[in-house]
Amino acid sequence: MPEHTFRLNGEQVTVEVAADVRLLWVLRDLLGVTGPKYGCGINVCKACTSHLNGDAVNPCAIPIGDLDATDEVTTIEGLPATVDAELHPMQRAWLDGDVVQCGYCQPGQIMTAVALLRRVAAEDREVTEADLDGIRNICRCGTYPRIRAAIRDAARDM
Ligand code: FES
Ligand code: FES
Repeated sequence: MPEHTFRLNGEQVTVEVAADVRLLWVLRDLLGVTGPKYGCGINVCKACTSHLNGDAVNPCAIPIGDLDATDEVTTIEGLPATVDAELHPMQRAWLDGDVVQCGYCQPGQIMTAVALLRRVAAEDREVTEADLDGIRNICRCGTYPRIRAAIRDAARDM
């Protein structure tokens, strides 16, 4: 079985697994990192959203063999450390806005929101309604209005 090395939440990790196994299963089943949720497994629901080198990606669609040793994967577990705090400002905004219902989609929602605000900041502009409309993470509990409000709140703090 081939070995694959990449960076996960600030640490170098190596796994022994077939190259076509998707990153989501490596994270959840081999490494015990269960923040990224399994919803559809086919890159549609976005429940698994995490960051690859700072951008939002869906690990259910990434074969582990595509990762290089220098690639940095960040899951919701590693998000606070990216700002050297107990919680990321987006997580605080989520708590303040009481966003969560069942919770299943929420790690993915938060990771998408953080990547969105990073992109907006890099483009030196404010988050727009069109940006929020562009989010494709599915929430079967319908928490969309609270998600949008929390992202707007976090944008004021980030
Ligand atoms: S589980 Fe990855 S997009 Fe649905
Ligand atoms: S909070 Fe239940 S699926 Fe989003």
